[in-house]
Amino acid sequence: MSDAATMPDVDPHAPLLEVRDLQIELITEAGVIRAVDGVSFRIDSGETVTIIGESGSGKSTTAMGLLGLLPPDLAVLSGHAAFNGRDVIAHPKVVQAVRGRTVSLVPQDPMTALSPVLSIGSQLIEAVRLRRRELGRDAARERAIDLLDQVRIPDPAGQLRKYPHQLSGGMLQRVLIAMALAGEPLLLVADEPTSALDVTVQAGILDLLLELQERTDIAILMITHDLGIARVMSDRIHVMKNGRFVESGDVEDVVGRPREEYTRALLAAVPQLGPWDGDVPATAPTTKGVGA
Ligand SMILES: Nc1ncnc2c1ncn2[C@@H]1O[C@H](COP(=O)(O)OP(=O)(O)OP(=O)(O)O)[C@@H](O)[C@H]1O
Ligand SMILES: [Mg+2]
Repeated sequence: MSDAATMPDVDPHAPLLEVRDLQIELITEAGVIRAVDGVSFRIDSGETVTIIGESGSGKSTTAMGLLGLLPPDLAVLSGHAAFNGRDVIAHPKVVQAVRGRTVSLVPQDPMTALSPVLSIGSQLIEAVRLRRRELGRDAARERAIDLLDQVRIPDPAGQLRKYPHQLSGGMLQRVLIAMALAGEPLLLVADEPTSALDVTVQAGILDLLLELQERTDIAILMITHDLGIARVMSDRIHVMKNGRFVESGDVEDVVGRPREEYTRALLAAVPQLGPWDGDVPATAPTTKGVGA
């Protein structure tokens, strides 16, 4: 392929994802908006890094920019962002090579992310075959069943025949996580993966992500406006406001000793966790790895 000559090699010593001084300008009818204004962070295998911030702070634009999902005629990216040392900004072809394989997206709203007119099976098998072209139909079906099993969906073979409207929101989000895992990515980008779900269902999905991470060492870039979620899931947190990180650090430091008024305001918006029904320990989980 002619692209091979311009495609940089994977650097095994480079971080899984390294972002330096990323800027993203959006060209809108009202003019140019600098939605992301010089952010820097890194993610290694097995880590969860969370970007947290109020609505409109630039979280999704950051994620979509890194995944190459912003329309090229409407978004201008600059700075440095590299997966395993391969820069997706200097070499836009790289992003097509890594998306779905090195890095995969878990969408925000499971109810609208799947086609309503196709069965779960046909959509998942299609996702598998897109990533693993060498697989025949039967092998792809087996792989689809295995993926549903990995996301703890009961009776995976039976679910393949169902249509999205026959599954609950939580089950659909599990299907979408299974789809994201089809190419065995090293990094999942989860943009508000539970905000469309009930609180109890939310906890199950977050637990699943933690369990997947423990089992496979997958890295997660988590996007949320909920410090409660950030606290349970993250190794590091970046607090975003107006396109910039105003505070960054280990989860204990940012949550325990916030330096910025903005972070304190986000913290104050989190309801205090306490015992309910008497069967939940009074010391609620506060840091990563403790099941929610
Ligand atoms: N398609 C678009 N057209 C115009 N402006 C946009 C578009 N998408 C995003 N923006 C602007 O870019 C900025 C960042 O938006 P972004 O969606 O990244 O925020 P966010 O932090 O993900 O917010 P939320 O928590 O609401 O999802 C905002 O000022 C927003 O108005
Ligand atoms: Mg968003």
